[in-house]
Amino acid sequence: MFDVLEIRKEFPILAKKVNDKPLVYLDNGASSQKPISVIETIKNCYENEYSNVHRGLHFLSNLATEKFEAVREKTRSFLGAAYLEEIIFTSGSTEALNLVSYAWANQNLEYGDEIILSTLEHHANIVPWHFLRSRKNVKLVWIDPDENGQISFEMIEKKISSKTKMVCITHMSNVFGSIIDVKTICQNLKKRGIVTVLDGSQAIVHLEVDVKSIGCDFYTFTGHKLFGPTGTGVLYVNKKRIEEMVPFIGGGEMIKNVSKDDVTFNQSPFLFEAGTPGIAEIIGLGAAIDFVLSFDRKSVLEYEISLSEYARAKLQRLDWLAKHSFHSDNLAIFSFSMEGIAHAHDMATILDANGVAVRSGHHCAQPLMKFIGVPATCRASLALYNTQEEIDMLIESLEKCKKLFG
Ligand SMILES: Cc1ncc(COP(=O)(O)O)c(C=O)c1O
Repeated sequence: MFDVLEIRKEFPILAKKVNDKPLVYLDNGASSQKPISVIETIKNCYENEYSNVHRGLHFLSNLATEKFEAVREKTRSFLGAAYLEEIIFTSGSTEALNLVSYAWANQNLEYGDEIILSTLEHHANIVPWHFLRSRKNVKLVWIDPDENGQISFEMIEKKISSKTKMVCITHMSNVFGSIIDVKTICQNLKKRGIVTVLDGSQAIVHLEVDVKSIGCDFYTFTGHKLFGPTGTGVLYVNKKRIEEMVPFIGGGEMIKNVSKDDVTFNQSPFLFEAGTPGIAEIIGLGAAIDFVLSFDRKSVLEYEISLSEYARAKLQRLDWLAKHSFHSDNLAIFSFSMEGIAHAHDMATILDANGVAVRSGHHCAQPLMKFIGVPATCRASLALYNTQEEIDMLIESLEKCKKLFG
């Protein structure tokens, strides 16, 4: 049974007081807190298991390599990928998406080719494509979401031309919490030979993801939102695409042989993991995946849906608050503002004085801010450890904002 009060005990930081008030942490979309199991795993790695990986023959190097590579297998199974070489460790989604841009798209797209992007995207899934446009003169074609924050295959289909080579899209909006039907999108695009890049940074935290069943070419996520350490991320690459990729960063690990005038390369995933990785961090990511899988994920999702419904209903009652895309299917993320009355940063400061941590700003989604016509929003984002009482605290603090700003 899913017991939120028991789960909270696993997160030491949640017992903290902020500004003399109990911490209400509603900034999970930016980064989530870490359970004891992740903290202890990292500590244990440095105390008992640490050395550099892959290179040494001594006991600790073998042990660290074993632990590190076990996380690759765990991640493969977690994502439903078929092969280990499809799992590339990165420092986060940002690096993963840049890797797709440099290692795959740079090789396979030509002058005039088109990439479809949605206005929902985080800058991490926009800027690498701007860079590619500068390098290769490709065209970026944009799709705006509907009023529910949705992008459908039909909307994408209208933008497809004979030049369309890729569609890069988020699995879940980090501003609206809308979940995109990426399976229908990828399966239809596959039939047309269009490559799909999915940003799973938010979705992976809430949904069971099976890349084989979705049928995408690339899928990325970042470890720190999934209760894991910072500096960890994953790029899933469908095996078919691996053969079309060239290395992006050169250095140790990714080579077989180096002479003064020649280099021969290692295979995937090592080919794309030059240099010493975040060893303890990746091992910590393994603990985070174990943590997520220690619950019945369906029960967790049910809990998050009911908490989201509670939050949505309470926020809806604040009729002076501008709510951005509050559809009932959207999950765990709520963006709101007090247009013309208070800046989102001022709201967040008042909330912070009450111990309530939310994010304010453009959420690295400036094209989306422009689309909804605001410079910034306040964003409350929920995780499995949040409670109805914490939502009540958010509402109480927002009422204080209203009183203060009039
Ligand atoms: C949807 C989405 N994509 C990408 C990222 C980038 O993640 P990272 O900064 O960990 O690379 C974020 C983080 O906020 C995100 O929410």
